[in-house]
This record gives sequence, C-alpha cells and structure tokens, in this order.
Amino acid sequence: MTESMVQQYHNGQLQHLLQIEGLPQQVLIAIMDEADRLIQSGQHRSKQLSALRDKTVINLFCESSTRTRISFELAARRLGAEVITLDSHISAIQKGESLLDTIFTLQAMHCDFFVIRHPENNAVEKITQHVNPGVAVINAGDGSHAHPTQALLDVLTIRQHKPNFSRLSIAIVGDIIHSRVANSLITALQILQVNDIRLLGPKSLLPSSTTSLQCESNLTVGLEDVDVIVSLRVQKERIKAADLLDINTYEQEYSLTETKLACAKPDAIVMHPGPINREVEITSAVADGPQSVIQQQVSNGIAVRMAVMRLLKLGFGQSLNQ
Ligand code: NCD
Repeated sequence: MTESMVQQYHNGQLQHLLQIEGLPQQVLIAIMDEADRLIQSGQHRSKQLSALRDKTVINLFCESSTRTRISFELAARRLGAEVITLDSHISAIQKGESLLDTIFTLQAMHCDFFVIRHPENNAVEKITQHVNPGVAVINAGDGSHAHPTQALLDVLTIRQHKPNFSRLSIAIVGDIIHSRVANSLITALQILQVNDIRLLGPKSLLPSSTTSLQCESNLTVGLEDVDVIVSLRVQKERIKAADLLDINTYEQEYSLTETKLACAKPDAIVMHPGPINREVEITSAVADGPQSVIQQQVSNGIAVRMAVMRLLKLGFGQSLNQ
C-alpha cells in the first residue's frame, strides 16, 4: 500500500477521497449504486435531503474550474449543507499565506469537509495530514495525478449504458499523460475488471513504452469495435514547450469525427469530461450527436458527489438508510 492509500483510511473506514487507487471494488459499486438511487428518486435535482444539514463544506479551488466547482457546490447544497466556495483569488493566498495556514484558519471556524483542487500533484493528500479528526478531504483534481469523482461519474455513466464491465472495450483518446481524468479512470476501469482498455493518441501524449497498457497512435485502428470512447482535451497548460503539438496535425489525425466514430461499434457511446475544445479533439457533430453522453456525465456528476459526501459522512459499510 502506498502512503496515499493509507491516508484515505482511518480505523478501517474510508475517511478521505484522494484517489481511486487502493479503493476496493465494492466501494466503487456502493458509490455508483447510491448515485443511481439518488437519480432514480430525483433527489439529485433539488434540495430535498438533509443528510448534511448540520455540516459545513468548504470548496477550496486553487486552480480554475467551472463544472467541477459548481457540481460540488450543488451536491453539498442538495444534501442540506452549508457551503462556502473559495477560489484561487482568495485574498489570504494572494497576501502570501500558505495553503496550510488558510486550512488552519478555515478549520478554526469549523468545517466538516474540504473539497480541494490544486495544480500540484499530491498537494491534496498532504493537507489530509493536518486536518482535524473527523474532517473529510475530497480531491477535486490535483495536477496530473488524480480526479477521483470524475472517474466515478465516468464509470457510473458507462454502467448506465453498458453494465457488464468485463466485456467492454474502452478507448481513451488524446492527451493521456497530462490527464488526471485518464489516470483515475484507468484505475477505476481496472478495479471494475475491464480487460480491454486502449490508450490512443500521438506518441508524445501517451505513457512511456514501459506501460503494460495498450497504446496505439493510429486512431482508426485503435477505435475498431470499441463500446466506449472517452475523448480528452489537449491540456496546453501542462504541455512543455518542447512537446508542443502542431494543433492542425493533431486535429487531422486525432479529432473524433463522425468518420472515425464509425470504426467503433454502432452503439458505442462518446464521453468527454469537459471543457471541450470543439473541432480540436472532437467535432461538434460528434459532441452533440446521438452517441454523445456528455451532458449525462455532467448531470451524473452531482449525484456522484452527493453519494461520496453522504457515504464519507456515514462511514462506508454502515447503513445507508438515513
Ligand atoms: C478536467 C479537469 O479539470 O481535470 N475537467 C473536469 O474536471 N471536468 C479535464 C480538463 O481540464 O481537461
């Protein structure tokens, strides 16, 4: 077990959600089941529940975000919590206060959850070593390391369309090496026993040749007969100058067009975590087309984050009938 796997647990219970790595399959399934239950009852749509009525959730976003930040905020509110969101322009950090001092200050005002996004790998995990007992930390994306709630909403969306994970062929296309979304999703798919995971993109954006994962640079070959395609944004902000891509060549070879989509199974679904760069990694015809489940991913995001907060509060393994 790595240190961060241990960090997620306290007295045998999941206390923080930092990464997918190290989570048992039954935890992933419990989160998906709980999220599905919230969706089926419509409880993810409005403020009907009071599971976090006496709780305070602080969203600390040290890197810009629209959908993830709003999704966490709505999820916490729809569970009845008091919610404060601070973004990277928070005055304390601008005045030079360290993130840890900001955390101590916020803790002194009392809070139960920190939802944190940070540009550096493992920055969120370090914070867990300093929070008060009983405070849960949720990683909302750290550097290129992990984005666990995105992976959970992705596998939930896949399961809603294609429930038999072990039979699926799933292609993740684009900027894999800089993507925390890909990292967490690959781990979640492995835990759920997906056998055929294909990483597709130019060599400079794929993991090194030492990886045991299937990598392919020819999109037409890699997409053959897949059930699920996950398109990723080219993360220009993380690509070093030396690797700078020629975007025109990238578009020609890797943009997911209707023609390339036709290589996949006819009922394949198309996913994207957003934000989308239309016509770069995916054409509008595909992003808005009949096989796209991109809006469903966004909607599932709220239910998954509600499920995670509720289960962290209850302690996994305890009754969910509250
Ligand atoms: C992703 C992220 O921020 O990691 N977006 C998201 O959370 N929905 C992916 C990205 O920025 O491309």
